[in-house]
Amino acid sequence: MAMWVQGVGRSGYRLLRRQMQPKQSKTAGMQRCGYRICLLRVLRLADLPTFAANRESNHSNQTINPQTDMRKKIVAGNWKMNLNLQEGLTLANELKAALAADAPACDVVICTPFIHLAKVADAVAGTVIGVGAENCADKEKGAYTGEVSAAQVKSTGADYVILGHSERRQYYGETAELLKEKVRLALANGLKVIFCIGEVLEEREAGRQNEVVGSQLADSLFDFTADELQNIILAYEPVWAIGTGKTATSEQAEDMHAFIRGCIAGRFGEQAAENISILYGGSCKPSNARELFAKPDVDGGLIGGASLKCADFKGIIDAWK
Ligand code: PGA
Repeated sequence: MAMWVQGVGRSGYRLLRRQMQPKQSKTAGMQRCGYRICLLRVLRLADLPTFAANRESNHSNQTINPQTDMRKKIVAGNWKMNLNLQEGLTLANELKAALAADAPACDVVICTPFIHLAKVADAVAGTVIGVGAENCADKEKGAYTGEVSAAQVKSTGADYVILGHSERRQYYGETAELLKEKVRLALANGLKVIFCIGEVLEEREAGRQNEVVGSQLADSLFDFTADELQNIILAYEPVWAIGTGKTATSEQAEDMHAFIRGCIAGRFGEQAAENISILYGGSCKPSNARELFAKPDVDGGLIGGASLKCADFKGIIDAWK
């Protein structure tokens, strides 16, 4: 059993699973409703103080062992709208040399602007570094000026795409429905999705973070199958921590990651929850990565600012050693 299951305690976990089991129903609408009910049950259970207390006491002495953990440990960079093509290539080549000299103990991905993808993918082909886009279109192909489809991303040699980033939700009005379509197209075109979720400051201050993140998961991802979920990585990024220098504490991150894993177990089953990687994002840097990654439900990071300097990004990657 994965560590988080032990953390809940076997009987507690069985109870949690029973409570979270979606209602059997024939129609899609009813099924969806069942998941919503199950989600509400997760929310209530995850708030139980004993649940949190059990987890804490069982996990406090854990050490990281990426070799034996089932889930993939991942450090992914998100360059956002930074670096011109030449600067991007220089950074990719620097990272390639650094990781060739000192192999990482986790998967490494760099997500770049569209214009960098083909050249960066070529530059790092055959290395441990994977390449991803930061977005893709919600349409398959055709007259959508300025858009880039999932198939086009894939054709550059990229294997990943970030979807649902809070900057896309906030500045470009991306809704849960639209994101669901983007995820569908990305998966259909053989991309792995790094799906971002996270609450804004007012939501956290109102104690609504679980409700918000639970809905983001349910509304965009719960219609996919457990098979499809295998190509989805989650990234919990509290919006108040992105680019602000204000990192979530490792306890805040762990609480939310455990809650997210509970939601996944409720909808997709225990195995899927054990297997899915959940990254933390938001002002992660070499100085705090080790503490964050030491938490049992934190499987790595999605890194913005600190992915723009090879030494900083490598410092975060090294937190897995
Ligand atoms: P940050 O960004 O590391 O600069 O806070 C993270 C992200 O937005 O993915």
